[in-house]
Amino acid sequence: MLVFGHRGACGYLPENTMESFELAFSQGADAIEFDVVITKDHKAVILHDNDLSHTTNIDDKNFLSAKVEDLNLEDIAQLRVNERYPESRVESASYSGKFQIPTLAQVLANPKFDGKHLIIEVKHGKHFQQLGLDIVAEVASELQKSNWQQRGIQITLECFEFGILRELKRVIGPDCKYVFLSAPDMLPVGKAQLDHELLAEIAENFDGVSVAISMLFQGDVVGMAKDLGLKVFAYTARIETAEGEVGTWFERLIDSGIDGLFADQPDVLLKVVGDKS
Ligand code: G3P
Ligand code: CA
Repeated sequence: MLVFGHRGACGYLPENTMESFELAFSQGADAIEFDVVITKDHKAVILHDNDLSHTTNIDDKNFLSAKVEDLNLEDIAQLRVNERYPESRVESASYSGKFQIPTLAQVLANPKFDGKHLIIEVKHGKHFQQLGLDIVAEVASELQKSNWQQRGIQITLECFEFGILRELKRVIGPDCKYVFLSAPDMLPVGKAQLDHELLAEIAENFDGVSVAISMLFQGDVVGMAKDLGLKVFAYTARIETAEGEVGTWFERLIDSGIDGLFADQPDVLLKVVGDKS
């Protein structure tokens, strides 16, 4: 089972920063995952939320809005990333205010990521498109400029929005992998669970499905998805939300038969994976 550094190694350093990504790879993660949004001037930047209040020092600035879609890249460049959970992640919080918000271009240009696997989650696609911000085109353009194939980089694109993921695939093409992200409250219209019909539709369109842990043990989701030829990932392993003892919980997640697991502390999950093999 592969171990993916979630927003880098966000259990140790502020999420979605270059420092967090490099730490995840130095811990041995098989891939890093990060989130992409888009600025008012159409630049793809690495942030989970479109509201910057929770993970940046924007409240210290005099901007009129805290929304990424209202800010230009030169505004974003003035900000620094804060730890999202300063009370529980005290060590990481000591780095609050120190790291920049990376652009997608900067991440793709990092030579340390040559030969690595990058999992790019496109966030809030429809929302941005309604504002005239074409995040699909911007991600496609940055990927094209980055020469990723020649540098041996593997790219997986993920999205909670079925239509946006289809658009990404249509525009970017078959050299990347495409994984549909599922959550109980974010399934396609009319769907309440990952049943066989929905999984079959995902398999017709994409390479994999990523399953929220809360849905992982509902019926035989993993077996059904695998039988349909899908790769199956799950999110998110984190020590703070382990159900019972951390090692035992991570073993249970691994034993579900998934192909890959996103982890906030990739080193801890890697140790459990290593001990089992
Ligand atoms: O890729 C899995 C995971 O990142 C999806 O949830 O909210 O952490 O972006 P979230
Ligand atoms: Ca994500």
